[in-house]
Amino acid sequence: MAKILLVDDNEINLMMTEMVLSEMHYEVTTALSGEEAIELLQNGPYDLMLLDIVMDGLSGIETLARIREMPGISGIRTIFLTSSSHMADMTEAIRLGALDFIRKPALPENLYSAVRQALLVREKDRILAVDDDEMNHIAIEELFGIRYDVHCVSSGAEALAELARERPDLVLLDLHMPDMNGLEVLKRIRDIESCENLPVVFLTADNDANTEAELFTAGAMDFIAKPLVLQVAMQRIRRILELKHLQDSLHDEVNRKTVALQESNQKLNNLSDQIIRALAGAIDAKDSYTNGHSARVAEYSRELARRLGKSAAAVAEIYNIAFLHDVGKIGIPSTIINKPGKLTDEEFAIIKSHTMKGYEILKTISEMPELSIGARWHHERYDGTGYPDGKEGKNIPEIARIICVADCYDAMSSDRLYRKALPQHIVRDEIEKNKGTQFDPRIAEVMLQMIDEDKEYKMNGSKTK
Ligand SMILES: [Fe+2]
Repeated sequence: MAKILLVDDNEINLMMTEMVLSEMHYEVTTALSGEEAIELLQNGPYDLMLLDIVMDGLSGIETLARIREMPGISGIRTIFLTSSSHMADMTEAIRLGALDFIRKPALPENLYSAVRQALLVREKDRILAVDDDEMNHIAIEELFGIRYDVHCVSSGAEALAELARERPDLVLLDLHMPDMNGLEVLKRIRDIESCENLPVVFLTADNDANTEAELFTAGAMDFIAKPLVLQVAMQRIRRILELKHLQDSLHDEVNRKTVALQESNQKLNNLSDQIIRALAGAIDAKDSYTNGHSARVAEYSRELARRLGKSAAAVAEIYNIAFLHDVGKIGIPSTIINKPGKLTDEEFAIIKSHTMKGYEILKTISEMPELSIGARWHHERYDGTGYPDGKEGKNIPEIARIICVADCYDAMSSDRLYRKALPQHIVRDEIEKNKGTQFDPRIAEVMLQMIDEDKEYKMNGSKTK
């Protein structure tokens, strides 16, 4: 991610521009004065500076003029932010090597294209040449020195030391050298982290296909025959560097897009979580006395799943499924749900239909097909006498078996319309008693363990506790 130093003495402008650049996924550092900017640059590095022209203290022009005199930071790519169109300023800015001007207030589209362009502009590419013949150093410097920043060393060991210190854009490597030959040096270069893709071009007087093949296999980008021919050598180097820069900028772009994608995925996840909570809230609101039931069942199910050794992803999934297990109650009349007395057979049949209703609602969410499982089968019994399908034992999906235990536990440990929450030992006895008939014995056993650890009976939905 490119690092940008943003300099403006107006705090509001600074904040607004920073916001836009951060949205574009650049890493932004801000400075309120030229002096502060110079200090930050010295502790850099930065890829680009956006510099306000008119500032109190050092002006933008004065700041850049100073920076250009300072070794180490003099080459910083700079774009000016300006509300003035003063010709003298513009001329001086260009003389100081400004890459662009952006009018204030900076519009996002202007910022985007100017910053992108500026980041593509490069300083002189650096070439590290490795050759044991000092005469060749002179030739290489003469050939490439005008266009590139060339640094020559005489051995593989020196080259590796240099690479540890500073990363060039390309390495020119002599094949035949005493001590460590070119091939060996190349292998060592590839072992250095972040040098895996550094272009390495061989200089060789050999002219046989086997050597050529060997060099390419070892990861050479190209080779240039000695004695060097100016046009050929220049063209090859230029093309390789262009390709490298293209790859680098593509890589940056992919990184930026990946970060953006991850963020939007996160937003989508948050959104679906919120929708699930809202939907569960609507169910619970319908049943005036079991408020919070869905959330508690979700929590107990999650803990059961965790203790059953499910993966983190599965645990999170069960939590959401359990949250919506009673979603079908949305389709049941409130008068029946909240009826204080005993239900008629007909009313009980309507209540029971919440399982299929929930299933029908949730199965339409094609992105999360497993959501509907909990709704449909959480009232199945392990002995096969439950509803709606009379499924038995392991034929009941495990998620539904987990929710079933959590659901019944909460029903007993919460206040109901017609009774208070049951005492903990009675809840425990009921779970124990129904192990293997209503409940999957393995899951019931985990629930019992949770109850036994809950010495103060904190796991409950009682309103009076
Ligand atoms: Fe239910």
